[in-house]
Order: sequence, then C-alpha cells, then structure tokens
Amino acid sequence: MQITRDKEGGHNDMPDQQSTAYQADKVDYLTQITRLFGGYKRRAIEFMNLQPGVSILDAGCGTGDDLIAIGKQLGPAVQLTGVELLPELVTEARKRAEAAGVPVTFHEGDLYQLPLETDTIDRARTDRVFQHLEQPAEALAELIRVTKPGGWVVVAEVDWGTLVLDHPMVELTDKIAAFYRDRQPNGRAGRGLYRLFKKSPLTQVEVYADAVCITDWTIARFIWGIDAMLNKVASAGLISPEDSAQWLQRGQESASAGTFCGSMTGFIVRGQVAKA
Ligand SMILES: C[S@@+](CC[C@H](N)C(=O)[O-])C[C@H]1O[C@@H](n2cnc3c(N)ncnc32)[C@H](O)[C@@H]1O
Repeated sequence: MQITRDKEGGHNDMPDQQSTAYQADKVDYLTQITRLFGGYKRRAIEFMNLQPGVSILDAGCGTGDDLIAIGKQLGPAVQLTGVELLPELVTEARKRAEAAGVPVTFHEGDLYQLPLETDTIDRARTDRVFQHLEQPAEALAELIRVTKPGGWVVVAEVDWGTLVLDHPMVELTDKIAAFYRDRQPNGRAGRGLYRLFKKSPLTQVEVYADAVCITDWTIARFIWGIDAMLNKVASAGLISPEDSAQWLQRGQESASAGTFCGSMTGFIVRGQVAKA
C-alpha cells in the first residue's frame, strides 16, 4: 500500500515538538492512522471471518472506528462491544457510533481484566494494543477466556523494528529507528504474535503481514512523530542537537526532491478457540 498526502492537506499541522502526535491529539492521530492504514485495517477485519449474527469484541478500541466499520459492513445483526482503557476515547467512540447510527456497547476497561463473562464472544480482536503491553501472553489468555468455543481471536500489531526510512544519514537513521523500537513496552510485538498464538491453546493459527509505505515527508513526520522522537533521542544524549537539525534538513531535501520513502510492517494473527 502506498500513501501520498490527501488533496485537502489534512496533515499540515505538526504535533507539539515535546510530545508524540498521539499524545498531542489522540483522537486525531487514531483517525488519521485508520485512514492511512486502510489495507492493513481491511485485512485485519477480513481475517476475523465475520458472518452476520456474530458477537464481536474490540479490546483497546480507541475511537471505535473499526467497530463502526464492521457494523456498517454487517448490518444490525451483529452485536458489537468495545473496551477501552481511556475514558476520553470511550466518550469519543460513543459519540462516533451514535453519529454513524451503529449500535455498539462501549465499556471503560482493561484488556487484562475484560468486563465480560467467559465464553460470550464469537470474535475477539485487538489492533495496535499489544505494543503497549508488558504481559502479552496474559492479555491473549484474557481474549481467549471471553471467546466461545469455536470462536476466533484476532490480534493485529505493527512491529517498530520494521520501521525503515530512506534517508541519506544512514547510521543516524538506524539509531533513531532503534530508539522508536525500544521506547515501547513491547515494540517488537508484531513479529512475536505468531509464536504467542502457537504457544497458546488456540488452534488453526495463521499469520499475515502487510507493509504500509509512506512517500509524503509531512505525513511521515506526523504519523511517526518524527520531530518529538528526534527531541527524545537528543535528550537521551544519543545524538547531538546539530545532528538532529541536520537530519531533519536532509529529510526535508529528499521530500523536496520527491524521493522520500518510509515503511512499517503490521502483522495480523488469528487462532480458533477449540470447539467444545
Ligand atoms: C494505538 S491505539 C489503537 C486504537 C484502536 N485499536 C485502533 O486501531 O484505532 C491503542 C489503544 O489501546 C488502548 N489500550 C492500551 N492499553 C490498554 C489496556 N490494557 N486495556 C485496554 N485498552 C488499552 C489505548 O488507550 C489506545 O486506545
């Protein structure tokens, strides 16, 4: 999938220099990602093997956009549930679902302790939550707990170790990318999902990977929070402020030449809960 800037220029506002784009405006950031990661998102939903009448949980649902998309696709026969840790995102998700006319039950709650009964869900999924989790096996066990025998668990997650940027300052770029990977509790989550599933009681485990490719420097800066990350790498003493400024300048030059390219891979894994 290749991404270029949209005609309306929706990505011109750069995030606060001191925070990542996500921290600066969670709602806007998640909305942009959902739009930009279209292929990965579609595949993650296809992988759920959806049918009318199923009950679906999205744990760590953020703004609820994936549930709303599923609800629009499958119509009123599905039962949709979202669980999200942050109250502000639950409020936004409720607002969006109502505006879209898609009935969804949202709970403020933790993926490690889902506010749901055992064996009640046909499809339990998460997207880009496992990178935040210190205990991914426990989280997966919780998703399995709430899923009915014969139901499916689907986890989608990027791997920050796959972030590559075509930039002339190669060594510095590698340092910055390594910092990205290591700042998350579980920055290599994507590559580990298949192993995690295979070691769980789930059966029929399958994995798929989809790379997002961004050729617009402005979008890349926004989506990957490049400015904030540079500040953090410099604050950690890993690069000098001069190198940081030069790195941005050279990136800008490749953008002006129309040659910039960056990419990151997302992994999508599914497994079935053994039939009773
Ligand atoms: C990168 S966002 C992805 C949101 C949404 N799944 C999407 O694809 O747009 C990660 C989400 O996981 C939520 N989250 C992180 N840890 C969580 C936990 N332990 N339980 C529930 N939600 C969690 C965050 O608050 C955030 O909304």
